[in-house]
Amino acid sequence: MHSLATNKNRDSEPILDVKDIAVYRSGKLVLQNINLTINRGEFVGLVGPNGSGKSTLMLTILGILNSYRGSVSIYGLQPQASLLFGKIGWVSQAASNLPKDIRLTVRELVRLGTIHGRNMFNFKSSRQQEQVDRAIKMVDLEDVQHIDIARLSGGQRQRAVIARALASKAEFILLDEPLVGIDRDARNSLLKLLDGLCHNEGKTILMVSHDLAAIRQTAHRMIFLEETIRFDGDTEEFPDLVELADLRGIGPVHGHAEHVHHADSGHHSHIHKEEE
Ligand SMILES: Nc1ncnc2c1ncn2[C@@H]1O[C@H](COP(=O)(O)OP(=O)(O)OP(=O)(O)O)[C@@H](O)[C@H]1O
Ligand SMILES: [Mg+2]
Repeated sequence: MHSLATNKNRDSEPILDVKDIAVYRSGKLVLQNINLTINRGEFVGLVGPNGSGKSTLMLTILGILNSYRGSVSIYGLQPQASLLFGKIGWVSQAASNLPKDIRLTVRELVRLGTIHGRNMFNFKSSRQQEQVDRAIKMVDLEDVQHIDIARLSGGQRQRAVIARALASKAEFILLDEPLVGIDRDARNSLLKLLDGLCHNEGKTILMVSHDLAAIRQTAHRMIFLEETIRFDGDTEEFPDLVELADLRGIGPVHGHAEHVHHADSGHHSHIHKEEE
């Protein structure tokens, strides 16, 4: 099954192609029948209940976990191929909890993004400084660039980690719950930043979030994952709660009350019932 999302880029250029993967963790089947294509410039929101496999899917795309079958290709290469170094940015679920005992300034953290296997010994340092400057500016952390990361707010820390990815010139940025632990203003400006990266810089973003309201504001395309992909389509067509419950084969969705009043949407189509 291919994505139903209408592509904003007419000449769509696939960046990620996941074909029929299944992933086991500790002997338990966590993901199955996953088929997913993401094109350049897309901003894709990945949602699903706790334990539904969102982080597992991210880690499999990154090549940190192996799929039991099927294939993952990024820019036509296998995950972790050395040519991909720097092309992929990863902002982990724990990014806002960077170890507090490490003494590292924002600028130093961002600079780490410019260091990778291919350029370790011959990277021109002026160019490296430029990349660092630009990344810090893009996330609006110039004022705190010489401050220890331990002293930043949660939202600033997320920005710093995103800047590290930008400094690496990552074209495809994966974020796992970047909105956790940050206040509403920080959340909105982070979403704006990410949206701008897609629109103005041609970056491609895959972002996991529990904050359904926030992610629907920004992502063009939504994926609902629960062991397999149960919905993949335009954000406007994302199902409401009743339909979600139906997709999940359960009664009314138990769970996060704060999602309830946001989950109503006018159009309901392209819902993929699980194929048996
Ligand atoms: N290191 C691990 N070893 C074994 N099983 C794991 C491991 N990490 C996760 N799992 C299991 O894999 C399944 C999917 O977990 P995953 O972390 O991908 O879910 P998630 O959708 O990211 O959840 P959350 O919203 O809580 O972050 C769960 O059943 C979980 O218990
Ligand atoms: Mg997770």
